[in-house]
Amino acid sequence: MIVCVCRALTTSKVNDAIAAGARSPAQVHRHHETTINCGKCSETVCGMIREQSCSGGYDDARQLVAAE
Ligand code: FES
Repeated sequence: MIVCVCRALTTSKVNDAIAAGARSPAQVHRHHETTINCGKCSETVCGMIREQSCSGGYDDARQLVAAE
């Protein structure tokens, strides 16, 4: 699915950037050597970043509990 119409960034491309450490829409665009144009994708990209950060935090917390 296309997340950013202006730069043709798909869900997969955004997830790749997040997996590589991008934590803002600008960083996601920079990862793919593009820049934000209209900014309409920023809210969706922020949501995807939050989702992945939250799930990572949850997994980290579960690992800590399991180690105790
Ligand atoms: S939709 Fe991403 S910059 Fe316009």
